[in-house]
Amino acid sequence: MNSNIKIFVEDDYNTLSKKAAEIFACAVNRKPEGSFGFATGSTPLGMYDELKGMVKKSELNFTKINAYNLDEYYPIKGSDNQSYKYFMAANLFDEINLPKENRFIPNGEAPDPIKECVEYEEKVTKASIEMQILGIGNNGHIGFNEPADYFAGATNYVELAENTIEANARFFEKLEDVPRFALTMGIHSIMMAKSILLLASGEGKAQILKDSLFGKITPKVPASVLQLHCDVFIVADKAAAKYL
Ligand code: GLP
Repeated sequence: MNSNIKIFVEDDYNTLSKKAAEIFACAVNRKPEGSFGFATGSTPLGMYDELKGMVKKSELNFTKINAYNLDEYYPIKGSDNQSYKYFMAANLFDEINLPKENRFIPNGEAPDPIKECVEYEEKVTKASIEMQILGIGNNGHIGFNEPADYFAGATNYVELAENTIEANARFFEKLEDVPRFALTMGIHSIMMAKSILLLASGEGKAQILKDSLFGKITPKVPASVLQLHCDVFIVADKAAAKYL
């Protein structure tokens, strides 16, 4: 494994969230006017709660950062409570006083998804992200970059894998409601971040985490590309780190 990957194994989800928040807060405090990459999914929620707590205690200030989110369903209205735009506002941004004009996320309402991807990529490239938060899908996806025959470079318009749709159905009333497409930062867009903070929790992520960090670097396991990044923090609970 690449020695630039630092692995923190925490007892449980609670301590994982605290550790991840500590690492992220440190990066924000170092660059309080920098750009940072955010992720959705259930795994970062505990860390987001910790960050909100730090802001309340005035230990952290997000008002000057620019936030770039990894991905968004397509098509979806920003006001839809299943959109990632809504998710980020409700679970973090509104509570940390992040100005609306500092929030960037691929636009799920854009009339032309391809054009939207090109425009979003331009923004991300210019932003130069200090630290990108990532979760990991059951199949090793990062953002919505699904297992494929090649690593997608830039922000792209993707069809979701069947097992991703099934995994994400838990947030929707029924399986058919899960959008089948998404806009996502590409692998190259993610790899451009100066550092990466990947969170993994629960036994369900144990095998894919091992494959990603110690297995072959292959687009069939998108997260395996992180072995090529020069500054990665992995924060996992014991269950997810079972095979490491
Ligand atoms: C979604 C998101 C990913 C996230 C993944 C895992 O598919 N697009 O960015 O990492 O879910 O989610 P969870 O943390 O809920 O397991």
